[in-house]
Amino acid sequence: MTPPLEKSSVAAVEQLARDAGAVALRHFEALSTVPVESKGHLDLVTAADQDVERFLTEGLAKAFPEDGIFGEEGAAHQGTSGRTWVVDPIDGTFNFVRGGDQWAISIGLYEAGQPTFGVIFAPLRSQILVGGIGLASTLNGERLAQRSGLDSSRASCGVGFHPVIPVELRLETLRFVLEDAGMSFRCCGSATLSLIEVALGQVDGYLGIGESSWDLMAALPILDQIGIRSTVDWKNTDLSSKLRFACGTPEFLQAVAPIVDFGATLEP
Ligand code: IPD
Ligand code: CA
Ligand code: CA
Repeated sequence: MTPPLEKSSVAAVEQLARDAGAVALRHFEALSTVPVESKGHLDLVTAADQDVERFLTEGLAKAFPEDGIFGEEGAAHQGTSGRTWVVDPIDGTFNFVRGGDQWAISIGLYEAGQPTFGVIFAPLRSQILVGGIGLASTLNGERLAQRSGLDSSRASCGVGFHPVIPVELRLETLRFVLEDAGMSFRCCGSATLSLIEVALGQVDGYLGIGESSWDLMAALPILDQIGIRSTVDWKNTDLSSKLRFACGTPEFLQAVAPIVDFGATLEP
């Protein structure tokens, strides 16, 4: 069984996330001068994403020299320990570029073929979530409550679509959520922020179509400790897979089962 991450390592990653937040905020405060490039239609990347990823990569390599690092903006360092840090330097870049507050730094640990630990920091919301195997999940140091059930009179589903997802699939997904599952939906443009909403019980679960490992690696182990399960089959998913997944209370997962099979990935 995977042991819990040592206290000193937890504190080091938490501090790294806060420091990376400060780097991101410096860019955010100078938004009008931050160069923005396009990876695809409505899929943006900025100097802030690259700078924060570099900062995280250097910090993780220093703290955990034997571990691998895998990041959205290209970090790909093979370690020798069997552990890999999976980072999304800014999840919610579109919101960041538009001056919104729904973006976060996400640092997850992948070990023995599964997510085991995560830290998420949303600087403009002053929210830091920490948790993982054998550890209590916390928000700003306070223990998060366990989540369960699905109250049909107020059921709500977070949704996220990668920019490449065809309109038809988005509409069919939303039709299912609204009509078949009878839920409301919330879409904020950052998988991580949506997963914070799951952690806080503001929605019952999340449907992500086209997400990547770095969008989830930090949040899933935090959520798992409070009773939130996911459909990702890590045994058959590699870090580069594009996912079609759900996570939520067991009752939520049952409600969305008709459109998200366990272990589903995005069809090419
Ligand atoms: C995106 C956001 C979005 C999700 C996309 C991601 P980025 O990440 O998390 O909510 O639906 O699939 O690519 O590009 O802002 O890091
Ligand atoms: Ca992302
Ligand atoms: Ca990103």
